[in-house]
Amino acid sequence: MKAAILISALALGVVPAMAEDVTVGMILPMTGPSASTGKQEKAGAELYIAQHGDKVAGKTIKLLVKDDTGAADVTKRLAQEAIANDHAAALMGFGLTPLAFAVAPIATEAKVPEIVTAAATAVITEKSPFIVRTSFTLPQASAPMAQWAAKNGIKKVVTIVTDYGPGLDAEKWFGETFKHEGGEIIEAIRTPLKNPDFAPFLQRVKDDKPDAVFVFVPSGFGAMVMKQFIEQGLAKAGVKLIGTGDVTDDDQLNGMGEAALGVVTAHHYSASHDSPENKAFVTAFEKANGFRPNFMGVAAYDGMALLYHALEATKGATDGAGLIEAMKGAKWMSPRGPVEIDPDTRDIVQNMYVRKVEKKDGQLYNMEFETIPMVKDPFKATKK
Ligand code: PHB
Repeated sequence: MKAAILISALALGVVPAMAEDVTVGMILPMTGPSASTGKQEKAGAELYIAQHGDKVAGKTIKLLVKDDTGAADVTKRLAQEAIANDHAAALMGFGLTPLAFAVAPIATEAKVPEIVTAAATAVITEKSPFIVRTSFTLPQASAPMAQWAAKNGIKKVVTIVTDYGPGLDAEKWFGETFKHEGGEIIEAIRTPLKNPDFAPFLQRVKDDKPDAVFVFVPSGFGAMVMKQFIEQGLAKAGVKLIGTGDVTDDDQLNGMGEAALGVVTAHHYSASHDSPENKAFVTAFEKANGFRPNFMGVAAYDGMALLYHALEATKGATDGAGLIEAMKGAKWMSPRGPVEIDPDTRDIVQNMYVRKVEKKDGQLYNMEFETIPMVKDPFKATKK
């Protein structure tokens, strides 16, 4: 029936509306423990479309946001449905590493770009030639954090990471870099992804008496870590909290209270980043949503920017291989600073910033004070 309509439409010289649409299947945890990632990413992608219009290279962008609840089997099913039923020309989102992994074979098989705008385990882009990433990698953030710590009087560290892909990357890249710089890792603790309770681990850290505890938890879990860090009396015991910026996530930071003041992290985005592009982005984002953007919001905004760039380059052609080719080497000015897609790895190259939580205009922000320019994912750099 569908085919018959299509044939008669073509015979009449009528182009079916579908051919003019570029459907983006955005698959995110909109519910469950990572719901803040879904909320931020949806807002970031929608803002880009609202600001730039839904027309690009003669095509109309149709954004379909689907809730995978953070469960990989659901992500997989939704990706298959987006391609088979919605004829999605691109898939986007993926709030956690296992969810990005689950879709990699589907992207390869269907030759549809998988634009990873959240998950951050280094190896993700190697799982399919159709994966490109606009978020970050944990080695990218963890190595600069270790260098800063070693140069700033921190000698003994306990690491606490969530026990899955990005946490293991953070543990390895913080630990190895810190040791290389002369530091000592007293203990490396891993906490479960599901229903974590940091209290017993933090008690152990207190007994270890390190100068600092380095933390990686995925976006959405930072407030709980901060609360338990204070309750367990670590700050009072003189233990510093450092980490990747996931722990002082802009989505939760303001609610963490004064206890978060002074926490130093390394990351690629802060809502307080001082640039005209970011000021305009934050103002528009807050106006549209009533909350400030975090690194997930900006990565989805940039994921959409990358897709628009690719469609312009292909003059609206949507074959997956052509889109991926057009994304390789793309450069633009993001609200986070200058960014580039590494043509060899399809991963994002970007500035890393060392930041400290401070009060500005009565609110808590990660205030950037050091920039490491245009950092490539070190994991892939070492493999060359
Ligand atoms: C991931 O699962 O890859 C992930 C999720 C949230 C983050 C970082 C990494 O903040």
